[in-house]
Amino acid sequence: MPSTQVLAFGVTTLLATGTSALYTGCDHYNASNFFNEFSFFNEADPTQGFVNYLSMDQANLSSLAAFTLEASPSIFLGGDYKTANPPNPGRNSVRLTSNKSYAQGLFIADIAHMPNWPNSGEIDILEGFNENMNNTVTLHSGEGCVMSGPGSLPTSILTNPNCNANNGFDGCPTSTSNNQGYGPGFNEIGGGVYAMEWNSSAITVWFFPRSAMPADIIAANEMTSPDPSKWGTPTASFSGPGCDIGSHFKNHSIVFDTTFCGQWAGQAEVWGSSPCAALAPACNQYVAANPAAFQDAYWLINKVMVYQDYEAAGTK
Ligand SMILES: *[C@@H]1O[C@H](CO)[C@@H](O)[C@H](O)[C@H]1NC(C)=O
Ligand SMILES: *[C@@H]1O[C@H](CO)[C@@H](O)[C@H](O)[C@H]1NC(C)=O
Ligand SMILES: *[C@@H]1O[C@H](CO)[C@@H](O)[C@H](O)[C@H]1NC(C)=O
Ligand SMILES: *[C@@H]1O[C@H](CO)[C@@H](O)[C@H](O)[C@H]1NC(C)=O
Ligand SMILES: *[C@@H]1O[C@H](CO)[C@@H](O)[C@H](O)[C@H]1NC(C)=O
Ligand SMILES: *[C@@H]1O[C@H](CO)[C@@H](O)[C@H](O)[C@H]1NC(C)=O
Repeated sequence: MPSTQVLAFGVTTLLATGTSALYTGCDHYNASNFFNEFSFFNEADPTQGFVNYLSMDQANLSSLAAFTLEASPSIFLGGDYKTANPPNPGRNSVRLTSNKSYAQGLFIADIAHMPNWPNSGEIDILEGFNENMNNTVTLHSGEGCVMSGPGSLPTSILTNPNCNANNGFDGCPTSTSNNQGYGPGFNEIGGGVYAMEWNSSAITVWFFPRSAMPADIIAANEMTSPDPSKWGTPTASFSGPGCDIGSHFKNHSIVFDTTFCGQWAGQAEVWGSSPCAALAPACNQYVAANPAAFQDAYWLINKVMVYQDYEAAGTK
């Protein structure tokens, strides 16, 4: 992110004056302000996907890619599922980046994905590819950040502790084993909330199905932050003396995107060793020829809340 954007006006920032706020500043993104506070990225896909990221006007004109559902206000971010064999650079889609960037805080969202890769780190809260059924939470960093994963669900596995693995490209992934947290299982239950507490000592992620959201997340507003210490065992946690979080993760904006193929999912060996191999010899070929397969490939976002300025309870 250019630093001018770092300083751009965020959303309503209110200071809580009560005595119990854990965090005191809150940016609340929802259908009323999302398209003012997030920018359409319409350059070449940094992950080299078979994708054509649209500008806001193009996206809105196509009414496929980005608009607000008026009946129940939420943010729809989809992609083209009608055009067969789109020309290069690929299938129309959108990639939205928050104007504001953040270093540490409490993030509450259906879904979020964070860039500035890899020297200022990247935190992928919700990410998967091809026919994955479960989410993988991954941190990507510059050299010298080795994590452990204490206290997370026993079924969550930190498969590589080195967040700079493969020069940061692979990062340190924690695989999870709740198929309601990703893809078809997630959509079937109406989704849920991903929450992340990012502070100087840990990066901690929770997933709550919509039917099991903590009361303080449901009640969260600009004045009152929820309290992660009451949420129970996290889905993924990253901490330990091997990584100075403050120096490896900074200035992250929030990104929502849908891309096709590219450096990860599109690699011949990744495609070829997944169930997708039965569909077509190569990822781009499949994506080009099968628009209807992407009708369900959209985000629907109710809200994203970001709390900053941690204060211990009662100190304000
Ligand atoms: C993060 O943003 C601050 C404020 O704009 C800037 O001073 C700092 O250089 C940025 N750091 C990085 C790594 O981009
Ligand atoms: C949507 O966000 C705005 C701006 O932060 C906030 O004032 C408003 O209360 C939010 N709407 C709902 C329904 O929470
Ligand atoms: C966010 O950034 C976009 C494009 O850079 C700009 O048009 C928009 O005015 C910005 N929003 C705010 C609230 O500053
Ligand atoms: C899309 O166009 C409609 C109709 O002109 C407008 O009401 C809406 O605000 C636009 N949305 C965006 C994201 O530009
Ligand atoms: C995905 O989650 C399901 C249960 O929801 C589990 O049975 C399966 O083993 C998980 N897969 C992986 C690769 O962890
Ligand atoms: C950082 O977040 C973790 C996870 O919620 C929490 O256990 C820890 O107390 C926090 N540390 C600080 C210094 O706030």
